[in-house]
Amino acid sequence: MCGIVGVAGGIGERLGSALKKCLERLEYRGYDSAGVAVTGAGGIIVRKGRGKIHEVEARFNFTALDGLSGIGHTRWATHGKPSDENAHPHVDCTGEVAVAHNGIIANYRELKEQLTARGHRFISDTDTEVIAHLFEDYVKAGLPALVALRETIRRLKGSYAIALLYSREPDRVFFARNVSPLVVGVGEGFNFLASDIPAFLGYTNRVITLHDGEYGYITPSSVYVEKNGEPVNVEGRVRVVNWSPEAASREGYPHFMLKEIHEQPKALRETWAGLDMGYVSKLSRIIAEARRVFITASGTSYHAGLVLDHLLAGLAGLDTHVFNSSEYRKYLRLVREGDLLVAVSQSGETIDTLMAARVFRERGARVLAVSNVVDSTIPRESDYQLYTSAGPEISVAATKTFTAQLMILTALAANAALYNGGIGKETYSLIMSELEQAPDLVNATMINVEARVRHIADKVKVKASAYYLSRGIGLPIAMEGALKMKEVAYVHAEAYPAGESKHGPIALVDQGFPVIFTVTDDDYLDPLEGNAMEMAARGAYTIGILPSKHYARLGKVFTEVIQTPDASPYLLTIIQSIPLQLLAYYTAVLRGYDPDKPRNLAKTVTVE
Ligand code: F6R
Repeated sequence: MCGIVGVAGGIGERLGSALKKCLERLEYRGYDSAGVAVTGAGGIIVRKGRGKIHEVEARFNFTALDGLSGIGHTRWATHGKPSDENAHPHVDCTGEVAVAHNGIIANYRELKEQLTARGHRFISDTDTEVIAHLFEDYVKAGLPALVALRETIRRLKGSYAIALLYSREPDRVFFARNVSPLVVGVGEGFNFLASDIPAFLGYTNRVITLHDGEYGYITPSSVYVEKNGEPVNVEGRVRVVNWSPEAASREGYPHFMLKEIHEQPKALRETWAGLDMGYVSKLSRIIAEARRVFITASGTSYHAGLVLDHLLAGLAGLDTHVFNSSEYRKYLRLVREGDLLVAVSQSGETIDTLMAARVFRERGARVLAVSNVVDSTIPRESDYQLYTSAGPEISVAATKTFTAQLMILTALAANAALYNGGIGKETYSLIMSELEQAPDLVNATMINVEARVRHIADKVKVKASAYYLSRGIGLPIAMEGALKMKEVAYVHAEAYPAGESKHGPIALVDQGFPVIFTVTDDDYLDPLEGNAMEMAARGAYTIGILPSKHYARLGKVFTEVIQTPDASPYLLTIIQSIPLQLLAYYTAVLRGYDPDKPRNLAKTVTVE
């Protein structure tokens, strides 16, 4: 939700052009308006407007701007509709201060009233603008800029990552963080600030993750951080990330989504290689011995959480409770010491998942975070951390991080089940060796199914709705398929346990209505076949995603079949995700949509 960027120093190109490149790599965080501000000898210059970054650039040619330091913003509107006035950066009354902000200032109305009463003039409907005016008040009162920043954030309630320019100190970008993510990119003769690492990967891979309550400034040669008025030494916090700059570019693919779908063999190979099995086994003991296991996440990560729930209950016989993280309040009275929460979040920044993790810890539960971003907020605030190594995911629609999550969660559950005797060594070895083969089988699936899926997408592209049905561990995969379809192709898609379809949903099914089945568990073949026949009897256009071993039996039951390699249900979750992702992608493209920029969505949801 909104991406911010800041740069101080010379980077061998005009600041405006560098800011544009950085913003384009954050566009997944929002794209309804964009803007930049630079400062130098002539004061602050702001160029901003409604529209995607390239549209705003075409109107205002901001890549031509240069200066000593600059900030930029790509917006996902929360307060105030997308418009030129509401685009960031926002300035104070004097034009000496410019602010880019990600988050929500909860008490902005009250602050705005106070500031207006003191004579400040507001131009936008945003919550952000109060920050510029508060800072203006404090510097006018004679406070040094850093102290003015500290006093400004003391007045703010809510979440924020702030990048602020002050024209009287043009060589620096001030910053502050609370809840919303903010990282520093450490360079030679320049430094960056950004909401996320890919923004500056083309310039540096040395990163400092800022923590809540920290504020300070970057100059071309220094990073200064304070908390509560005390300096914080961040030298020891510099990390080198091994994400290549290419990882954040499309590399010839028409969209990040397609690139990332195709990157899954690599993402899975690296995730597997990155797993410390000793640590996984230690975590699985903690899981198996917990009083109860809660699992929480949002969106796609929630579907991975459902698979974990299925495996921990089904294989290890554990008492599990899985919930959408935005619903965490339901559990406040229930949680106590001895409980464990598994919080799954690829970004590690989703606000609801973070809130759930915080309240569980406050009540004595331990938290295991599963994330793709090292040192992001949720893992940092958790007792245990497990990372996927899928590389940066830029497309708004999660794809490679989902299958990487499935891989490590399945490994975790298999270890827990082995530990508590839910499964024997043989089943355990089968699951683990299948997971090891996942990269090759996913690759084979991709090669075998892509053309067929494209052909099916050509039929689905004219449909208004679709159902995704399954039973057992295939259900969360069907749910993920439906989410992908809604999200990028804007086809109304709903997933149901196939058995539930007769309790209402089937009423909508008529001639040509698409119904997609994921077939994972052998135990459910009979009832699934029955459900497919029921749909066919009503004229549905049925699509069966099947491992080849079931082709002889079910091949004729569906209108279309997508055959995948054979595997156990534990691996079919990963394998069957591939055609579902491709189906959503191609349906979106054939309908004329840009799957990398689904309307109204932003990748990382940092506001409740
Ligand atoms: C869907 C998607 C979102 C995220 C959700 C959680 O394609 O990307 O539904 O899965 O916002 O995000 P994380 O995993 O970062 O917590």
